[in-house]
Order: sequence, then C-alpha cells, then structure tokens
Amino acid sequence: MGITSKIKESYKERLSSKAAARQRHPGTGAERASGDLSGIADNKRELAFAVMLALVGIAAIYPAVYYRGSSNPPELKASRNNVLNMKNWVNFTLQESQRVAHNTRIFRFKLDPRESLGIPPVSHLIVRAEVVNSRGRQEKISRSYVPISDLRAAGYFDVLIKILPEGMMSQRIARLNLGDSLEMRGPVVELQYKVNMKKHLGLIAGDIGITYMLQLINAIMSNPKDNTQVSLLYENESPEDILFKEKLDKLSQSHPNFKVFYTVIIAGGERQGGQGHVSADMIYKALPHPSSHTLILVSGPPKLIDRVCGTKDKERYSGQVLGLLREIGYKHEQVRKFSLAC
Ligand SMILES: Cc1cc2nc3c(=O)[nH]c(=O)nc-3n(C[C@H](O)[C@H](O)[C@H](O)COP(=O)(O)OP(=O)(O)OC[C@H]3O[C@@H](n4cnc5c(N)ncnc54)[C@H](O)[C@@H]3O)c2cc1C
Ligand SMILES: *[C@@H]1O[C@H](CO)[C@@H](O)[C@H](O)[C@H]1NC(C)=O
Repeated sequence: MGITSKIKESYKERLSSKAAARQRHPGTGAERASGDLSGIADNKRELAFAVMLALVGIAAIYPAVYYRGSSNPPELKASRNNVLNMKNWVNFTLQESQRVAHNTRIFRFKLDPRESLGIPPVSHLIVRAEVVNSRGRQEKISRSYVPISDLRAAGYFDVLIKILPEGMMSQRIARLNLGDSLEMRGPVVELQYKVNMKKHLGLIAGDIGITYMLQLINAIMSNPKDNTQVSLLYENESPEDILFKEKLDKLSQSHPNFKVFYTVIIAGGERQGGQGHVSADMIYKALPHPSSHTLILVSGPPKLIDRVCGTKDKERYSGQVLGLLREIGYKHEQVRKFSLAC
C-alpha cells in the first residue's frame, strides 16, 4: 500500500470510528441540539430555533448578573486552565538564560509567581516557532524539549538546549532576547512514573538525554515518601561535556538512594569514572540486575539507544530489547527507551 492510500485508509477509519462513537453516545451538548432539531417539522423549526437562541441568551447573561450581584466572587483559581495543555499553544516569556557548556544553555521561562508547570514526570514539551528555512522561506517548525527544573517550582521552569550549528529551532531560541516569548504546548508523557513503582531504577543517559533522567531524579529525591533506589550511568564525549555534574554529585552525597557513575569517550587529564562508551560490564556493575523489581530507562541520542538496547521504533513504543541490555538478560518489560532524535 502506498503512503497516500495508507493515509486515506486511516482517515476513513477515523471517520467511521467517529460515526460509531456518535451512535454509541448519541449527541452531547451542541450535537444533541442539532440532532433533535432535525427531527422537528420545518414549520416548527423556526420557533424551536428562537427558543434555543433565547435560552443561549439567558445562559450568557446569567453569569454576568450573578457575579455583579455577588459580594463574594467565586475562587478564580478553580476556573483556570492548566498552565500548559496539548490543545492550544501558549506563549511563555524568557526570563533568564545561562551557559552551562560551550554549546549548551539553560533557558528559564516565566510563570505566574504562584503557578508551577504542574506536569507529571516523565514528560516533555513541544515548542513551536517560525523560522527561515534553508530555501529562505518562512516556515513554522516544532521541536521537543524536556523541562529540567523541579516540576512543582512556582514562578518559572527551565529547559536545557544544545545549540546546534545549523539547528533551526535551537539557533532561533539562542537568539531570543530576555522578555521575548515562545509558543509551547504539552505535556507529552513518556513514562507514567508512580512513586515506589519499582524498588530500583537503573538509568542510562547519553549527552542531553540526561534531561529526562534529571527530571525524574529531581521528582524522586524531592519526595520524602519515595524510597526508590536510583542508579545512573552517564556517558559523555569528554569530561567538559558532562552536564549537571555538580548537581548530580551533590544529590548522590545527600541521598543514600542515589548513585551516579560517569564514563567519557575522550578522557581528560585526571580520570574519574569509566572510559569509553557504556559497556555491558559497566551496566552490570553500576545498575540493578534484571528482575521484576527493576526498570532500566535509556535516554539519549539514537546511536546510544541503538547500542545499549536497540533502536526505538517510530510508534513511540519501546520495541524489543537488543544490544547490551539483551546480552545481560533484561526483558522487554524491564526496559524503556527515550530517544532524543529529531
Ligand atoms: C522527545 C524529545 C526530547 C528532546 N529533548 C531535548 C532537550 O531537552 N534538549 C535539547 O537540546 N534537545 C532535545 N531534543 C532534540 C530537539 O527536539 C531538537 O531536535 C534539537 O534541538 C535540534 O533542533 P534544531 O531545529 O535546532 O535542529 P534542526 O534544524 O532540526 O537540525 C538538526 C541537525 O541537522 C543539522 N542540519 C540542519 N540543516 C542541515 C543541512 N542543510 N545540512 C546538514 N546538516 C544540517 C543541524 O546542524 C543539526 O545538527 C529532544 C528531542 C525529542 C524527540
Ligand atoms: C505568541 O506571541 C506572538 C508574538 O507576540 C504572537 O504572534 C502569537 O500569536 C502568540 N501566540 C499565542 C498562541 O498567543
């Protein structure tokens, strides 16, 4: 089947499933109103329409009257939407930006002082912007980024972004001035994390894949009710590329349930941790062994995912376990993949 016929097929499917859904739940709200109206004889239709308009009018005026007359207006917060939602794009203002490595920066976006991002771990956001593409044309593009600040922090949230030399979005974000805004929506939940869902989590991260892992580590370590053991194995190109080293070291010193191991491909002068790519030996020594009480999360560029556990397939489904994790004996349900591919 060709691509276009596939799309057509799925469109037809969606249409027919919509129709089926309508039959199962015959009309709610507006749908029911029009459905009922169609059953009325033509001469009565106008009258029914007038009655409906009148009702709509009363419904619209009622709250205004009610609020004006009330000395105690209802709590505003209750009627507010979430800060972020999947349906609508929302603008967020850049408040601060900080360089953390030669090509990587943290961007802090402003929230209402009493508001927090309020998204669950482990999730990411989608950012949209208009850019000039390589053919010199204006184009709207979107890219995913993972908030790394404590998700309950009020007044702001942070994302870490690696600025690519010709990256359309990352270059666009790098050029934002303080006070400029950026459209976002979300969250896209990659793993429904539940407190104490496993005894021991083994995290393997490469490069900016640390963003997902840091979001989860922050959530676990800031919750006194969460007793999960967490072991992180973090691979980078060189010691200078290790992101959040200070933060991770501090967390591991203050939390007996958190351990971190680093490995670098190009070692610097004084060597600490492993050398070379993540290996089966490192995984075996640093992370929990296969069991029903453990879960391994692998987060990083596609090359690392491929080598450690086999490529994640397109359906956002982790797929079968291959690579090093298969060698060690981890099963499908013990592994989750987080790919940071474009
Ligand atoms: C779920 C998910 C989470 C993510 N989380 C993060 C995160 O927290 N932080 C983060 O930094 N990134 C994250 N990413 C990656 C991010 O979404 C973007 O893919 C990344 O920022 C690059 O986007 P870009 O528009 O800047 O680059 P693009 O324009 O998409 O370019 C991508 C690459 O291709 C190269 N390129 C572009 N044009 C050409 C050309 N004409 N010829 C040759 N090479 C070219 C660029 O130099 C660059 O290396 C995540 C991705 C996913 C899928
Ligand atoms: C976000 O701000 C830009 C620039 O001010 C504006 O063009 C755009 O419509 C805004 N988007 C939303 C969703 O409000």
